[in-house]
Amino acid sequence: MSVAVRYYSRSGKTRKVAEYIAEAAGVNAISVDAKDAALSDKTDVLFIGGALYAYGIDDNLKQYLKTLSGDKVGKAVVFSTSWLSRHALDLIKNALTQKGIQVESDTLYFKSKAVDGCRDEVVKFAKKYI
Ligand SMILES: Cc1cc2nc3c(=O)[nH]c(=O)nc-3n(C[C@H](O)[C@H](O)[C@H](O)COP(=O)(O)O)c2cc1C
Repeated sequence: MSVAVRYYSRSGKTRKVAEYIAEAAGVNAISVDAKDAALSDKTDVLFIGGALYAYGIDDNLKQYLKTLSGDKVGKAVVFSTSWLSRHALDLIKNALTQKGIQVESDTLYFKSKAVDGCRDEVVKFAKKYI
């Protein structure tokens, strides 16, 4: 099974979650603005995450989501961090659905202040889909 982890993070919180998922999956967590962010061939499970900024998601993530398609991604699993709101999860899920991608209904979310102690929970969550 091929697994990919993509994220966008301004200050490192969402990146940390992405890195724990990647560690569980044995792949690299790649920022959506990195040169190698494009998905190669078919990805069975795409973990994709981003934080909420002023009730929206970053443009880098918005643009990346537009490049994805249902014929390349088997299923997407969404994660996010923020101070309080889970709204980025819905924004990301909606963008994926619009691209014809099947999205797992269960999501992974942490408040920014809880990210430091989240490793075990992240690994447990990720392993359900790997
Ligand atoms: C400019 C800015 C706007 C933000 N707006 C919100 C918001 O509307 N709601 C919220 O819950 N958190 C908001 N946050 C908090 C971030 O979502 C939170 O710090 C997140 O963990 C940052 O993730 P990152 O380190 O991966 O960039 C905002 C943070 C910044 C810097």
